Amino acid sequence: MELNCDRYLVVACDTSTDMLACAVAWWTPAAGAHEHARIEVLASADHLCRRHANVELVNSVKTVLEDAGKTMDDVDAVLVGRGPGSFTGVRIGISTAKGLARGANIPLHGVSTLDATAWRAWAAGVRGSVGVAADAMRGEVYPALYRLDDEGAHRQFERERVVKAQVAVEEWSALPQAGELQLTGDGLVRYGARFEAAGLTAHAVSREQWWPTGEGLLLAAAATMGSVPLDRDGDPALVLPIYTRLSDAEENERRRLGLAESAHVDTTGVADELAGRHLQLRPMGAADAEAASDLEVRCFAGAGHTPWTPTMFLEELAEGVAAPRSWWVAHDDGELIGIAGGMVVDCDVQILDVAVDASYRRQGIARKLLAHVSYDAQMLGCKTASLEVEADNAAARALYEALGFAETGVRRGYYGAGRDAIVMSTTLPLVLPVDAASPEPTAAAKRVWPAPVPERTEAERAAIARAQPVLAIESSCDETAVAIIAADGTMLANQVSTQIDFHARFGGVVPEIASRKHVEVIVGVVDAALEEAAASLELASGPLMPRELAAVGVTQGPGLVGALVVGVAFAKGFAFAAGAPLICVNHLEGHLYANLLTTPDLKPPFIFTLVSGGHTMLVHVRAWGDYEVLGETLDDAVGEAFDKVAKALGLGYPGGPIISRLAETGNPHAIEFPRALNRKGDYRFSLSGLKTAVMLYIEQENKAGRPLHLPDLAASFEAAVFDVQYKKAKAALHATGAKEYCIGGGVAANPHLREMMIRKLSRQGIRVTVPPQGACTDNAAMIAVVAREKYLRGEFSGFDIDADPNMTL
Ligand code: KG4
Ligand code: ZN
Repeated sequence: MELNCDRYLVVACDTSTDMLACAVAWWTPAAGAHEHARIEVLASADHLCRRHANVELVNSVKTVLEDAGKTMDDVDAVLVGRGPGSFTGVRIGISTAKGLARGANIPLHGVSTLDATAWRAWAAGVRGSVGVAADAMRGEVYPALYRLDDEGAHRQFERERVVKAQVAVEEWSALPQAGELQLTGDGLVRYGARFEAAGLTAHAVSREQWWPTGEGLLLAAAATMGSVPLDRDGDPALVLPIYTRLSDAEENERRRLGLAESAHVDTTGVADELAGRHLQLRPMGAADAEAASDLEVRCFAGAGHTPWTPTMFLEELAEGVAAPRSWWVAHDDGELIGIAGGMVVDCDVQILDVAVDASYRRQGIARKLLAHVSYDAQMLGCKTASLEVEADNAAARALYEALGFAETGVRRGYYGAGRDAIVMSTTLPLVLPVDAASPEPTAAAKRVWPAPVPERTEAERAAIARAQPVLAIESSCDETAVAIIAADGTMLANQVSTQIDFHARFGGVVPEIASRKHVEVIVGVVDAALEEAAASLELASGPLMPRELAAVGVTQGPGLVGALVVGVAFAKGFAFAAGAPLICVNHLEGHLYANLLTTPDLKPPFIFTLVSGGHTMLVHVRAWGDYEVLGETLDDAVGEAFDKVAKALGLGYPGGPIISRLAETGNPHAIEFPRALNRKGDYRFSLSGLKTAVMLYIEQENKAGRPLHLPDLAASFEAAVFDVQYKKAKAALHATGAKEYCIGGGVAANPHLREMMIRKLSRQGIRVTVPPQGACTDNAAMIAVVAREKYLRGEFSGFDIDADPNMTL
């Protein structure tokens, strides 16, 4: 350990481009506020590594540390490139860096990758006007202008943005300094010729220097935070990628809502009956302006605050308003019941308005709306949120305080004579992960980072040693989940942060949104799990520390690649920094092992049905790890069929729970739907025919002007699906002679499926196990169960593993 506390050992990395930038350096803070820190690079491993960043990054960190004669224990802080760049690349770098910093309990700071590229040119001796054109794919670049003098690289722009390559060509060739502009950035690989054709010189900076380096990152940080001692602040939960736009799905939706006269498209004539069951949130559209204004009047008439008029809302939503806006509405039963909006000004989102209908208060609607607005704002580069609230409005102030807002000023007489406004602000992300089901957030205590290292008593140390806690991370789809299990199988922590709210309005999971949310919440969910585990182990001295973990497990696949990489990259950095072995878990095995939570003595051979959103399988488990897949679906998975039928009926997402609730009062024999591949000995499944039959039925009833009886439809659909599941499971049990049966996956949460299997198969002398209802849909407890088994067997993975979206059993 370095005794000289005047300088700090920093690891810097960036994988936003094809360059894996990685270096370790001494950071000596500057004495004055406006000076640069001094950087002394000890070792670097910058190299081009196309698409292999997740395979190579942690080992590159290991290598630079070894080259410098250091270990992770010596490192005082981590620095990471936040992009903009390749979405997956940025996520890998940031997730790994979060893992490193969280695992070593040290600060993490972010830096713009464009700045790092400019500083690299500076370090190579380039001076004068420099244009960085970084590749944004799909014909676009991130253009960034700098002036380089002996002092350093100075930004000539405020915010990172993305434009068509041709737009950058035109903008730059029209500049007064066009003649002397020197270009760099990896966008030149593709578009260099276009810049040259417009008279710009694309080869002033040599091609090897078109990418960022570890040193470039360090210099860029040294210039902006020169006097910062790196051993404090820098909460890894708060470092996020630099995005220049929302996800495609959200962008498209905004365009559509902005244009559409009516946002309520009534496809089936059942929307009203169901909207009542389901509170929906979506971005505000032009069609909402009248209702939003009415709500304002209802909420604020006579309260001093002048209600917004429809025209004011329309102006907010207009294209091309100077500052980007985000407005959200909540509606129920076709009626608008809540709104919130904000405006982005210089990395701060100013909350302009929050209103919730009086009869819907205390249901967490304001919190949800604000979470969406602040999420958008974060994606648009905001770091803080601020708002004004009337000093006398205790309820509103309490809400904002619970969300982490703190008073930063007072505006006297803002709401009229004698009525002051309190200015409150907070850093983003606004809401640390809270259970979506819990109506109000737990009071957000401002966290101290790095976390103080608890002083353990002898007894506590013994308890931890006995427990051998294994932490497991799940991020394959739309839940960020972390669980901690003891070697004896006790579940010490089980945390889930669900994103369902963010996907529901698209009728399914949007991969790009899923991925962004994982990056945003993963540190918070890990924190919550470490705290919960400390409570389970009765550690009064403080949360479980990463170094106290016996191993770190993570879902490697199958799943959405952009979602998996976040968990995998984080887990690798975290395990490496914590000095814990890494364990890879197959998500499907997790669904199977969830059965051990209810039946610890479950023993192969047995038959296992896997029914989830992505998979439908009938499996003969001959021994643990020895799986004979008897049959799979030829088309849609069972959960997918539930989701698609629900979407067609306008019922929202996910479809499974909605349909199963409707089915409770329905008659399963009311409608005769087809059972596919119903031949004996055929263990394959097919659900697309059934899905089509349901669609045709809806169409036919609509045409005939008959109202749909939703409960009957839901019950009959379920019966068709589950009938086939039962028959095939029964046939497989007979054919293999197995006497045990279990089930897993999101659809296994369905009470009718569970009851039916238990009732019918038990009668035939089969022992039936179903996982706890809460462990059917994606969770980390099931991943932890598998990780524990592997830990006890010493089955560890190297730090060069990558996510595998196509893994199978
Ligand atoms: O296992 P899971 O959480 O994610 C995947 O690994 O795919 O499964 C999610 C699926 C969704 O399609 C959802 O509609 C379905 O499980 N699901 C249900 C129920 N709860 C969730 N399907 C039927 N009945 C339910 N009660
Ligand atoms: Zn799953």
